[in-house]
Amino acid sequence: MARRTAILGNKGGVGKTSVAMRLAEALAREGRRVLYVDIDAQGNATRRFGVRWYEGVQGTNEAVLANKVGAVRDSIHQIKWSVGYADRIKLVPAWLELDDRIAEAGVPGSHLRLVKALQGADDHFDETLIDCPPSLSHLTQLALASSHQAIAVTEAEQDSVRGARRLVRWIAERAYDLHNEDLKVVGVVATRVDLTKSIDRAQLASIREIFGDLVWDPVIPRINGFKEIDSNGSPITGATGEKAGVMRASFELLAATFEKRSLTV
Ligand SMILES: Nc1ncnc2c1ncn2[C@@H]1O[C@H](COP(=O)(O)OP(=O)(O)O)[C@@H](O)[C@H]1O
Ligand SMILES: [Mg+2]
Repeated sequence: MARRTAILGNKGGVGKTSVAMRLAEALAREGRRVLYVDIDAQGNATRRFGVRWYEGVQGTNEAVLANKVGAVRDSIHQIKWSVGYADRIKLVPAWLELDDRIAEAGVPGSHLRLVKALQGADDHFDETLIDCPPSLSHLTQLALASSHQAIAVTEAEQDSVRGARRLVRWIAERAYDLHNEDLKVVGVVATRVDLTKSIDRAQLASIREIFGDLVWDPVIPRINGFKEIDSNGSPITGATGEKAGVMRASFELLAATFEKRSLTV
């Protein structure tokens, strides 16, 4: 079974998907086989990985809707990047219809549908990364009920830090209700941090004070190049400019921290 990691934050637009995708990429570059589950109906990772919707295509929505052991097998797609390591990243894509699954939150056992759908389907992967929406509602709960561990992503900004705090507390208090008592938050990743700005430095200090040892190195810097490669749906090798090396190095280091700080499953 793959190690399953939910990547989340209780605020939108802070860089969760960017961290999750570039982590997946760095792990794949090191030879790890990664299953990337997009469970955000915005489908940003899905678009950035180059996978498009067409009639009849299966994704996270269909795997959850199926309510069947191993259903994810029918929803696994090859990402469309033309780089050597791309064949080690597979995607379970998301589109708007995924939000329709929220209506089933009251159905008994519905929060266990993803863990059921993953059963046996991610055995031939080393890592399953689940990219969550910016809320703690049903779709995120499906991810948390399926995961061994969670990583909180935050900007160096007050509302985002409060969001990370809420979710760390939420997981500690509610993992039992998700039938996943062993779920652990193993890291807090600070991203889009501009260390030239005193406000970001102050917020970073407060992140370290709040989360202590949970804060991972490296802190991911705010670099315009991220917006470019994310907009273009490019691999990190497509990054240009003087900061391209910093971007690559940041995620190589993050992948090393991930290996070091993750639970053994
Ligand atoms: N380290 C960074 N530096 C600059 N821009 C970033 C960084 N990380 C992400 N971004 C940009 O911020 C925007 C939101 O990021 P995204 O990963 O989609 O956030 P979320 O998943 O939290 O909604 C995107 O345009 C993305 O390219
Ligand atoms: Mg996102």
